[in-house]
Amino acid sequence: MTLSAGPDTPDQYGVVGHPVAHSWSPFIHGMFANATAQNMVYRLFDITPDDFRREALRLFASGLRGLNVTLPHKQAAAELVNELTPRAERAQAVNTIAYFDADSLLGDNTDGLGLTADLERNLGINLANKRVLILGAGGAVRGVLGPLLERELGELVIANRTPDRARNLATEFADLGQISGCGFADLTGPPYDLIVNATSAGLQGKMPDMPVGLVGEQTICYDMAYGRGHTPFTLWAKSLHAARTTKGWGMLVEQAAESFLLWRGIRPDTQPVLQALAHHA
Ligand code: ATR
Repeated sequence: MTLSAGPDTPDQYGVVGHPVAHSWSPFIHGMFANATAQNMVYRLFDITPDDFRREALRLFASGLRGLNVTLPHKQAAAELVNELTPRAERAQAVNTIAYFDADSLLGDNTDGLGLTADLERNLGINLANKRVLILGAGGAVRGVLGPLLERELGELVIANRTPDRARNLATEFADLGQISGCGFADLTGPPYDLIVNATSAGLQGKMPDMPVGLVGEQTICYDMAYGRGHTPFTLWAKSLHAARTTKGWGMLVEQAAESFLLWRGIRPDTQPVLQALAHHA
């Protein structure tokens, strides 16, 4: 099948991941396209890590104009493209690819802007001086560290199942601010102001075991994952009487708006999409 065609044929976009069937990105980009009168379609591509490079290149060669990249491909995507934006270069992870011509695939990372826009603009959280804990050290975390560290946080701790990945990531970003990495068992109180879950454990229906003392009545717990009802992480936070639990719908919509801007040159209004998605949260 070829994706390229005549002048009235919609431009082709999509999201690649594994798994990806749960993604709301087609709905979100569909609403953005309608609101901004863009002739485009947006599809799901479930591609395994072994096939990622070959299949992504094949899609672009057949006319695809842009891809969002989700787990577990964000780091592989940074190696696939010809050029990285400064924020993707810093993250060494890509969640948005734009195709300009056969010789030029641009990789960007809009995850960090998506998270900070949701925390600050949609949820009204001032991040300055806050003690922040991130669970996970994969591609999703790489994208958010730079923008978080720009906020003059009080402290940023990354904890991961594989502690060395968290430590290495902290070392890589140490020039940007106060950051450290450790394993889950090394964590101690006092309670954090904000805990962000960026592990994919929830996809397996799991919440990793955590030491006591991390969550207090002032702690905001943010799950980058999204879906209906509670996640294992938000259930854990609720059981510890967190001040607030929230899921990643807003981050998803805000990062999508930045991808759309890169592809189409227009930043769509995110509020109508957030409202449309609210009853799924
Ligand atoms: P993403 O792009 O979403 O970050 P990823 O790069 O595959 O995806 O990273 C997945 C993250 O979830 C990693 O931090 C992983 O921990 P490891 O580095 O130890 O692999 C974490 N993760 C996945 N399953 C987990 C589980 N059952 N318990 C705890 N952490 C888990």
